[in-house]
Amino acid sequence: MNDAMLTVDRLRVSYGRVEAVREVSFRAEEGSLVTLVGANGAGKSSIVNAISGIVRPRGGRIRFRGKDITRTPAHRLVGQGLVQVPEGRQILTSLTIEENLQMGGWHAGSAGIDDVYDRFPVLAERRRLPAGSLSGGEQQMLAIGRALVAEPSLILLDEPSMGLAPLIVDEVFAVIGEIRARGTTVVLIEQNARRALGVADRGYVLASGEIVHEGTGAELLADDRVVSAYLGIAT
Ligand SMILES: Nc1ncnc2c1ncn2[C@@H]1O[C@H](COP(=O)(O)OP(=O)(O)OP(=O)(O)O)[C@@H](O)[C@H]1O
Ligand SMILES: [Mg+2]
Repeated sequence: MNDAMLTVDRLRVSYGRVEAVREVSFRAEEGSLVTLVGANGAGKSSIVNAISGIVRPRGGRIRFRGKDITRTPAHRLVGQGLVQVPEGRQILTSLTIEENLQMGGWHAGSAGIDDVYDRFPVLAERRRLPAGSLSGGEQQMLAIGRALVAEPSLILLDEPSMGLAPLIVDEVFAVIGEIRARGTTVVLIEQNARRALGVADRGYVLASGEIVHEGTGAELLADDRVVSAYLGIAT
């Protein structure tokens, strides 16, 4: 049971009296893609923020490569290979693209930045420009690139396709596929649940801070209860 890349055991997150996450348990095997889906406010971001050390859990245990990281702060986790691409991208628009990428790799050398430039030539071409000059899709690529600079073994992606046009969503999913093909373990949060389940090895459906369904992506897509309650809107 200890050999998963990530093990979350009875995680609880509260904000004052608001119980956002209630005893959530799941795991991500090394090299797998796991998705967390569920309605707005279900607790998805709270879970990944707790894993990445941004939010302090109220209870439960989080293990990364067998090591307890329940109370490890975010900056130390990045150095250990656990990085998050936060909801809303959170790039620094007045800094240059290169400065944003440097922030992702402050613990490492700059080799990671060259790899990101190879993958995303548009970022290389505009490296001296303010990140705010990029389109929404390009900003998302920058947010993902900034995470990749740290050469993570586990990447947490919080709604990477949010607000993007369909063609750009395709690109984001292509990048996610590449990240996974390199052997990086992926935890993906998506509003586009149907699509996320389509690429996931395993999915967890959250409602009101609890896991209400789990299974392989294919199993959840074939489950009428999941489809009618959570995937009703065609995507
Ligand atoms: N900083 C905070 N202070 C108080 N309540 C919060 C805070 N962050 C989240 N919450 C509440 O916790 C619950 C879970 O929020 P969370 O952001 O984890 O959900 P989510 O599934 O990521 O939603 P969305 O799909 O809208 O991003 C919600 O009721 C939310 O209002
Ligand atoms: Mg969220």
